[in-house]
Amino acid sequence: MILVTGGAGFIGSNFVLDWLRQSTEGVVNVDKLTYAGNLQNLASLQDDPLHVFSRSDICDRATIDRLLQEHKPRAIVHFAAESHVDRSILGPEEFVRTNIIGTFTLLEAARAYWQGLDAAAKATFRFLHVSTDEVYGSLGMKDPAFTESHPYQPNSPYSASKASSDHLVRSYFHTYGLPVLTTNCSNNYGPFQFPEKLIPLIIANALAGKPLPVYGDGLNVRDWLYVSDHCSAIRRVLEAGRLGETYNVGGNSEKPNIEIVRQVCGLLDDLRPDAGGPRERLITYVKDRPGHDRRYAIDAGRIGSELGWQPAETFESGIRRTVAWYLDNQDWVAAVQSGAYREWLERNYSNRAPGSLN
Ligand code: NAD
Ligand code: TYD
Repeated sequence: MILVTGGAGFIGSNFVLDWLRQSTEGVVNVDKLTYAGNLQNLASLQDDPLHVFSRSDICDRATIDRLLQEHKPRAIVHFAAESHVDRSILGPEEFVRTNIIGTFTLLEAARAYWQGLDAAAKATFRFLHVSTDEVYGSLGMKDPAFTESHPYQPNSPYSASKASSDHLVRSYFHTYGLPVLTTNCSNNYGPFQFPEKLIPLIIANALAGKPLPVYGDGLNVRDWLYVSDHCSAIRRVLEAGRLGETYNVGGNSEKPNIEIVRQVCGLLDDLRPDAGGPRERLITYVKDRPGHDRRYAIDAGRIGSELGWQPAETFESGIRRTVAWYLDNQDWVAAVQSGAYREWLERNYSNRAPGSLN
């Protein structure tokens, strides 16, 4: 078995679904089910005996210890985190708790468990920490892309908490010999992404005829990776990554935000024309995010040359699949747009002129 944390969230649920499609090895899925965790993502696994779900907090050491003893996983794949930059700006405490204390708690539990394994199991055990390119900070437009040796310069409470967790993971390798691996990936998109992040928010708002909020001048650049490509990279690193190493994962798809928004509008106009006209009319420039990183870009050379990993999707194919998924799964979107979701829209967008977007 493997133990996955955060497997009811966006990337975690895609990872668990992909894993069980390709493997007969079971998954213990440990997730607290915060606003971002959703068991509907895993509905197709309801009768699958290879999927064991535990609603638990990674900060709860006793429960993590019990789960490790009960299921004896050969690896931990750690996704659980608070993951949204804007939320970290309006309320950083939960980010420190889950991303730092939670990762620390998991590392301590993993260390105790690993030390108790027999020699053979000890040698093959892995702790894979899923992290982000945001720990490296912001690039200028002409700077080379982030390599694994780029200095850490996090600029938001989210990226600072992830950077902190990366350092803890690293230290457990150098200090205790815990067999860790870390991946630092660029922006993901695809099915089951909560509509607070750029792409699903734009799709949901465009379908509802609401304003499409673009922060600042819309020229901030991100590298975009289709989620199943991130999952295949994690499987590959788990299988063959060098212990203690970090691997940057990216999609070779750098795009300014405004281009993403326009592309999504164009796809929706093709697939679901709107009587009101082209959806670009809904684009609304709003007040920028404080400390907004200008550009992220990933040099994925190491994972390519050492492990032979490449993304399968281009941005064009991935975004088409994503828009189609959201059109086919509007019930899913409606279900996650609860009272708590509306409250978030009010908090995040009400003070960004011109006007409330919910
Ligand atoms: P998400 O917010 O969609 O999901 C996070 C999941 O973790 C949720 O299911 C939530 O219920 C769970 N969780 C939160 N706090 C928990 C706790 N204390 N105990 C147990 N479970 C808890 O996030 P995501 O976008 O799927 O990101 C997953 C991981 O990948 C994160 O570590 C994130 O930093 C990293 N990452 C994300 C991206 C991206 O573009 N989304 C890119 C690179 C790396
Ligand atoms: P986001 O999806 O929040 O990911 P991250 O901040 O982790 O990169 O945002 C992606 C980009 O889109 C980022 O530059 C901020 C911008 N953005 C908007 O312009 N409008 C929005 O409403 C949101 C949520 C993000």
